[in-house]
Amino acid sequence: MRIDLRSDTVTRPCPGMREAMRAAEVGDDVNGDDPTVLRLQERVAALLGMEAGLFVPSGTMSNAVAVRTHTQPGDEIIAEESSHLYLYEGGGYAALSGCSIALVPGTLGILEPEEVKKRIRKSAGSRSHYPNASLVCLENTSNRGGGTCYPLEILEEICGLSKEADCRLHLDGARLFNAVSASEESAARLVKGFDSVSVCLSKGLGAPVGSVLVGSQSFIERAHRWRKLFGGGMRQSGILAAAGLYALDHNLARLREDHRRARRLAQGLAEIPGLSVDHEAVQTNMVYLRTEAPAKQWVDRLAEPGVACFALGDRLIRLVTHLQIDDEQIEESLMVFRKISSTFGE
Ligand SMILES: Cc1ncc(COP(=O)(O)O)c(C=O)c1O
Repeated sequence: MRIDLRSDTVTRPCPGMREAMRAAEVGDDVNGDDPTVLRLQERVAALLGMEAGLFVPSGTMSNAVAVRTHTQPGDEIIAEESSHLYLYEGGGYAALSGCSIALVPGTLGILEPEEVKKRIRKSAGSRSHYPNASLVCLENTSNRGGGTCYPLEILEEICGLSKEADCRLHLDGARLFNAVSASEESAARLVKGFDSVSVCLSKGLGAPVGSVLVGSQSFIERAHRWRKLFGGGMRQSGILAAAGLYALDHNLARLREDHRRARRLAQGLAEIPGLSVDHEAVQTNMVYLRTEAPAKQWVDRLAEPGVACFALGDRLIRLVTHLQIDDEQIEESLMVFRKISSTFGE
């Protein structure tokens, strides 16, 4: 595809990143002596104001390890109803951790503190009818919410009430740095109330593989066992960690360009007949587009001239900007959308 707007996961490592991977000093990370992995873990933990980090192969594994480390089988976790953890991780919370899930409806993927509070239930006081809610999971940015960001006050409120109810807090921060870029806050400030945070290096940051799970020293020591048990212990993974370090050095500051391009894309698309965009939801690098004609027809017709995107609903398309999409490609894709629009109703 010439213009691939399916996801920010489609980026390929640039020559500089490949060179960093080639030159990486490696060891055996299962034995804890890969210096590049250690450096990456320390770097991400420091960036997020946490004590320690753990390099894992994917965001899905990172969330799964976090849920397993925080909970006991039979516990309940709380998450937004369109969260990645619930929709797209194979039911790992049930299969790997033996947890049930209480789903909370959000607005553009963002939860109201009161709604979270209502769903927290405990075995004690219920004559053992209820499971024990022990973990609240949030997602920032929210993918299905449109790439939307949590306001800091809401995060603080949810963290406060969850702690009062004796629940741990995990943040799926697959795109946390997009939220940081879109706000005035530091990463450490945004994650302050959380017990663990997962960040992905393979999305907007452009690394080929990898996520880092961070938390307290004792949490990461316990998480280490579950990473091994889930098959995520890797050997000379410094080659991959080097790509992550390169991404942190080179690709953090430029996320704002992806956001600017997403806004331009949204504005251009909204002017095209048969399409509509909720501009309020366009806060980072995603554009969710409502279509009058079936989304699948749009996606198929766009593919012919080389514009790739995903249909995420009957009349819903998602477009994602990333480090291999430039201004020219945004204008070109708008041109293609305009042309395709004129073919509907023919
Ligand atoms: C919000 C969110 N969390 C977690 C993940 C999982 O990441 P991975 O694809 O590395 O397993 C994704 C992937 O797109 C995501 O969007």
